Amino acid sequence: MPDKKTFYITTPIYYPSGNMHIGHTYTTVAADSMTRFKKMTGHDTYFLTGTDEHGQKIERKAEEKGVTPKQYVDEIVAETKKLWKLMDIEYDDFIRTTDERHEKVVQKIFKKFFDQGDIYKHEYEGQYCTPCESFWTPTQLKNGCCPDCGRPTELVREESYFFRMSKYQDWLIDYIETHPDFIQPASRANEMLNNFLRPGLQDLCVSRTSFKWGVPVDFDPDHVVYVWIDALSNYITAMGYGSDDESLFNKFWPADVHLVGKEIVRFHTIYWPIMLHALGLPLPKQVFGHGWLLFGGDKMSKSKGNIEYPQPIVARYGSDALRYYLMREMPFGADGNYTNEAMLTRVNADLANDLGNLVSRTVAMIEKYFDGVVPAWNENAVDEALDLPLRDHCAALPRLVEEQMDKLQFSQALVEIWKVIGECNKYIDATQPWVLGKDPEKKDRLGNVMFMLAECIRFVAVLIAPVMPRTPERIFKQLGVTDETLMSWEGLKEFGLLPAGTKVCKGEALFPRLDVKKELEALAAEKVPAAPAPAPEKKEEKKPEKKKEKKVEIPEGCVSIDEFFRCQLRVAKVISCERVPKSEKLLKFSLDLGTEQRTILSGIAKYYEPEYLVGKNLVIIANLPPRKMMGMESNGMILSAVETKEDGSEYLRVLTVDGDIAAGSEVG
Ligand code: MSP
Repeated sequence: MPDKKTFYITTPIYYPSGNMHIGHTYTTVAADSMTRFKKMTGHDTYFLTGTDEHGQKIERKAEEKGVTPKQYVDEIVAETKKLWKLMDIEYDDFIRTTDERHEKVVQKIFKKFFDQGDIYKHEYEGQYCTPCESFWTPTQLKNGCCPDCGRPTELVREESYFFRMSKYQDWLIDYIETHPDFIQPASRANEMLNNFLRPGLQDLCVSRTSFKWGVPVDFDPDHVVYVWIDALSNYITAMGYGSDDESLFNKFWPADVHLVGKEIVRFHTIYWPIMLHALGLPLPKQVFGHGWLLFGGDKMSKSKGNIEYPQPIVARYGSDALRYYLMREMPFGADGNYTNEAMLTRVNADLANDLGNLVSRTVAMIEKYFDGVVPAWNENAVDEALDLPLRDHCAALPRLVEEQMDKLQFSQALVEIWKVIGECNKYIDATQPWVLGKDPEKKDRLGNVMFMLAECIRFVAVLIAPVMPRTPERIFKQLGVTDETLMSWEGLKEFGLLPAGTKVCKGEALFPRLDVKKELEALAAEKVPAAPAPAPEKKEEKKPEKKKEKKVEIPEGCVSIDEFFRCQLRVAKVISCERVPKSEKLLKFSLDLGTEQRTILSGIAKYYEPEYLVGKNLVIIANLPPRKMMGMESNGMILSAVETKEDGSEYLRVLTVDGDIAAGSEVG
């Protein structure tokens, strides 16, 4: 038994693309925040990231540039590492699929699969899309063209090795059904079962002969290993699996969590588990498929030109501000829109106002009323109604944060911390230190108020560190905390450990308030960082190329497509539905949106019996501001069709979605 709990977390290995955008940093910031949290709470952690460097597209790009594929990827990998440094990403290992340690073991794995009959050779004829590197069956083609990019395909005959995925399908269905935590969020597990596994798995093409830039199949040199056996194996080759030293692998495998974007959940929860099972290895404990950072309702992508880069943002507001925004803005698992305006507004509200002001006001008051020295807590000067709820809440905060972090709910963990910050700010208003300060007899009471605030700030500073690694040091400096235990998880075991006599020291504002309008202009004027190499386009992102759009006049009475897409339409499954007491019109719905539950009130009571609607997949507008009705908050709107009869009366039916679809799916 290991004496310390271990925690092994991975990001996907990144496709080498120049100019990585904010969306790319999302998985890595999440993995880094989680690693830091686990480290802080006493785990022996291992955080792996890297790059996925093989394939025909890279080979071609390098050729276009007149360099070797290795030269081409080397340059991009150096930029990638620079970006991780800028974002304060502290990984334990960076695996490259061109590393010898990786290639050697991939060859061994491929051979083992072949020897045990999991891989077979087969001549394959099919419609092939060269830019997408994909074969398509005649039924998959759209108007005879590639269903991904819309370009014409060609008939290609190629000899390839195939992996017998179908052999393991029933085993995997059973595994997923009996391990509900394996695929998270749960809606993604249903998607895998219903869309891919239950309809039946196709065998997977795992080698290619039409290009050379890949791991050679050592027993059949015309072939190179194709994509997934090469890419997915990184999670074990990096740990020394199949090498002379398997100690890291033995210590950390199975991984605790693979963090992946939702578009690659399929590969990580179908091909990867089957490969591991075929190798006789246990599966990772969890694969978490997070959502996308959208931009104007669309996935950020270079080809769509809707990209924001992290560099100008970090240069202006610091990496902590961007990391905070990414982890706070959207529930992990859901998609969310990125705009600079939303980011700046949140930085102002949460960091400059709530946190920054709390720290600066507290330090300033301790300087003013106690010559800069934190006073001692005095049991005789306690105001039970004001002090005890805040003290108890703050003392419980580490547990509340841990609960959310263990579910990878970064934004909820931050919400918990900000609740205490908000409560501290209210506590200042309620205790009115400026009034207490005028009355020498209230000195002890004022002392308690100051101690309470300083101690709460210490708790907050420790707990924000995983997401915002730079800010705590600045807070501790202002608070005068120098004892490392007080800066650690250990120091949060008890509320009140901050020693009286600590000398505070006023410093610069943690997050100066930003003029949003000016900042937006400044960001718009920032230049795009110079690309080390043109970014190869990514398969999953490929869509028919958009022509450069001319500014189109929108006729009166019409909306533009952009305006339409600002409405987030989502599928919501009805968990429960009931009449609202004292209302003839309203039904109260509790709805499942995949990654969250929400309440919507809808004025359709006269058209439906509530029970009839339970279990239905409705369509809602998910991004309306909350609205109060009959004293309850409604978060969104259920869409319906309304027929006006000849007599002027109305008949209404809700919009439902045909067939079985995951709750939370986007409609559009
Ligand atoms: N190379 C494959 C993964 C192989 S893993 C064995 C790959 N690479 S990627 O560079 O395209 O993506 C890396 C990660 O960045 C993925 O988790 C992907 O979801 C994430 N993101 C890229 N753009 C994104 C957004 N706009 N929003 C959030 N994350 C997205 O896939």
